[in-house]
Amino acid sequence: MSSQAYLDAVKARRSYYVLKHESTIPDAKIHEIVKETILNVPSSFNSQSTRLVVLLGDEHTYLWDQIAKPAVKAVAPPEVWGQSEPRLDGFKNAYGTILFYEEPKDVAKLQEAFPLYADNFPQWSEHTNAIHQHVLWTALEAEGLGANLQHYSNLIEEKVAAKWNVPGHWSLKAQLVFGTPAAKPGEKTAKPVEERVFVYGAKN
Ligand SMILES: Cc1cc2nc3c(=O)[nH]c(=O)nc-3n(C[C@H](O)[C@H](O)[C@H](O)COP(=O)(O)O)c2cc1C
Repeated sequence: MSSQAYLDAVKARRSYYVLKHESTIPDAKIHEIVKETILNVPSSFNSQSTRLVVLLGDEHTYLWDQIAKPAVKAVAPPEVWGQSEPRLDGFKNAYGTILFYEEPKDVAKLQEAFPLYADNFPQWSEHTNAIHQHVLWTALEAEGLGANLQHYSNLIEEKVAAKWNVPGHWSLKAQLVFGTPAAKPGEKTAKPVEERVFVYGAKN
């Protein structure tokens, strides 16, 4: 594979917010993509601290309808809820959600084994989780799905753990919502590359 094929997929990844309760690929293929991702994404000192929970179909709907909506409504002032409700309905209307967790015990083990880097391991755990997020976001969209990344972790974590038997000490980092796209992503502008990339020593 050339770098171009990979970068084309990276370029094609966007935030899709209008999604249908349908998938372009079978559930087994989604499962396969998730397994390939967790097996191949790097982690600091090979800690493999990331955990993924995949909710499909009705389970996905339950997350947004029965857990996230009541959780947000409970804390949102009425004027904010007016904007939040359609947004949450948008997520509910999608097909699936991937929940990204970190296992703090894996991070603590590294801190004990390598005290010199103890302060760095929590941050590296966030980094490895984010790499999983990006790989899955890109891979699902390469299959014709659309996805968007959400952060309702603190509001939903406890109820999610109870409903899907998630160990209570796992730390929920993000939610990737996906489904068949029903609208194109919005326009996006890029800051000039020259202000953000600096190369020294190039010969050709
Ligand atoms: C670390 C990170 C956190 C993000 N958090 C959210 C979020 O909580 N809600 C949301 O709708 N989008 C979120 N996004 C999506 C960004 O707003 C989006 O990626 C950015 O505007 C660029 O648009 P694009 O995804 O279409 O390329 C997040 C993206 C990243 C990388």
